[in-house]
Amino acid sequence: MSLTQPAAVVVLAAGEGTRMKSRTPKVLHEIGGRSLLGHALRAARALGPARLAVVVRHERDAVAAHATALDDGVTIVDQDAIPGTGRAVQCALTALDAAARGATAAAVATETWLIGPVVVMAGDTPLLDAGTLAELLRAHTADANAVTVLTTTVDEPHGYGRILREGGAVVGVVEERDATAEQRLIREINTSTYVFDAAVLRDALGSVGQDNDQGEVYLTDVVALAHRRGLPVRAISVEDSLLVEGVNDRVQLAALGAELNRRTLKQWMRDGVSVVDPSATWVDVDVELARDVTLLPGTQLHGRTRVGEGATIGPDTTLRDVVVGAGATVIRTHGSEAELEAGSTTGPFAYLRPGAHLGQQGKIGTFVEVKNANIGAGAKVPHLTYVGDADIGEGTNIGASSVFVNYDGVAKHRTRIGAHARTGSDNMFVAPVTVGDGAYTGAGTTVREDVPPGALAVSGGPQRTIDGWVLRRRPGTAAAEAAARALGGAAEPDAAEDASDPEAADPGAAGTGAAALSPQARAERARAVPASRTPRDHQVPGATAEGDSNR
Ligand code: UD1
Ligand code: CA
Repeated sequence: MSLTQPAAVVVLAAGEGTRMKSRTPKVLHEIGGRSLLGHALRAARALGPARLAVVVRHERDAVAAHATALDDGVTIVDQDAIPGTGRAVQCALTALDAAARGATAAAVATETWLIGPVVVMAGDTPLLDAGTLAELLRAHTADANAVTVLTTTVDEPHGYGRILREGGAVVGVVEERDATAEQRLIREINTSTYVFDAAVLRDALGSVGQDNDQGEVYLTDVVALAHRRGLPVRAISVEDSLLVEGVNDRVQLAALGAELNRRTLKQWMRDGVSVVDPSATWVDVDVELARDVTLLPGTQLHGRTRVGEGATIGPDTTLRDVVVGAGATVIRTHGSEAELEAGSTTGPFAYLRPGAHLGQQGKIGTFVEVKNANIGAGAKVPHLTYVGDADIGEGTNIGASSVFVNYDGVAKHRTRIGAHARTGSDNMFVAPVTVGDGAYTGAGTTVREDVPPGALAVSGGPQRTIDGWVLRRRPGTAAAEAAARALGGAAEPDAAEDASDPEAADPGAAGTGAAALSPQARAERARAVPASRTPRDHQVPGATAEGDSNR
């Protein structure tokens, strides 16, 4: 063990955090995408301690499970019913001593205790970094201190323990509620971060009482005890008070969250990332950004999101655990657990769900939702489409307004579309179904059967056009009048024409059976001659105005 490695770090996380007014234990609340406890454990682990203990009591199962999930090397210590930070550390020391004995029991007959420097820190101080802790530890070891306490000086010391000095030397810590009016004027405060010599700590805690306003065992009393025994007690002061600020309520949680974000963004900007509006951009601590990434306003990058060189994200984009390749653009998009390869474009208004994968130079366009699907290199899904459980080959274009119908009410199925295919607008791909390489599908096709490579699939019957239907069945409406104008005055419905109208009843009633029709409509239907009509060319409305060609 090197001189600057502690024998143990003890993280205090047994307190209730009443002022959070939350069902969630305080140390599990998050800033920067990581719990308060997670921040503490990360800094603690970076010191390379032989043991890392987390003291739990309030909501112990949730806190213990979270700590173990973050760092499977932690020792969970249960604090008993005796309250106070001193008692918490005492419980930890007992457990650490037992562990130390266990590790050497076979070889050594006599009792073995934990020896060396023990770092104690609170689990609710999220900006406290490994560098500051390492400084504290270095000073402790270099000066051969018994106790080294981390302090800071603040304008508003209310609520904190004050550092008592005599002739410059630290002689003790007094809590706000136990302090005299004079002591309350002191602005140097205890940050709840210390390094203790294990033997001194064990010994001193054995004689700390509960004689204070709260009736708790105060860890802070160890400072005065060590001083009275003539042991070297020192303080290290940090200038940057925010580094050591603890979270007690949600106001502080938000303030420190914003501060952490500012610091995170500042670092990224120094590393070559453009952040147009840092106040409107949020980046979690585990996000990775390459050089020349641009983050536009309203961007939130969460979890393990990674963005490649030269990519542009935003405006108004939220990504969680998304990998974005170099040079890609992602505009007004909400995504999680997706991958967008280099040079691809996504959005505006795209929704990426887990398993969405877009190949190089590919496109996911506007009002497109993608889930568990691979869209090949250069392939495009430009407009108004749901792609779920699908593989789309490279260079393929999916027509606007299509749905990959992946769910039959019981199970999900996959659609496979080959390379360089062109599917028409408003297609339904009823999975499981395959469209081969280079195949086409017509507009409005419901693809229920496989389409071989190079084939054209078109579904649905021929279009039926019933001339004059609106004029006869919706006389007097704006539609009828507009139609009449377009038809050049042939506005008066002609009873004879009705007779040839196979769909004389309201089209809404079509297919409901004769019983649903009025007596008149039934009669008309009976007289009707089934007409085989040529589909009209919609591109040439004039043809309708002039001719009566299909009557
Ligand atoms: C403590 C310090 C105070 C310091 C302040 C800095 C004491 C007596 N006081 O006060 O000098 O200025 O922190 O923020 O130590 N905890 C336990 N078990 C307990 C009680 C607390 O594990 O029985 C944990 C809490 O979960 C928390 C930490 O210890 O992580 C600090 O507890 P808290 O109640 O916030 O202490 P303060 O009153 O703020
Ligand atoms: Ca506190």
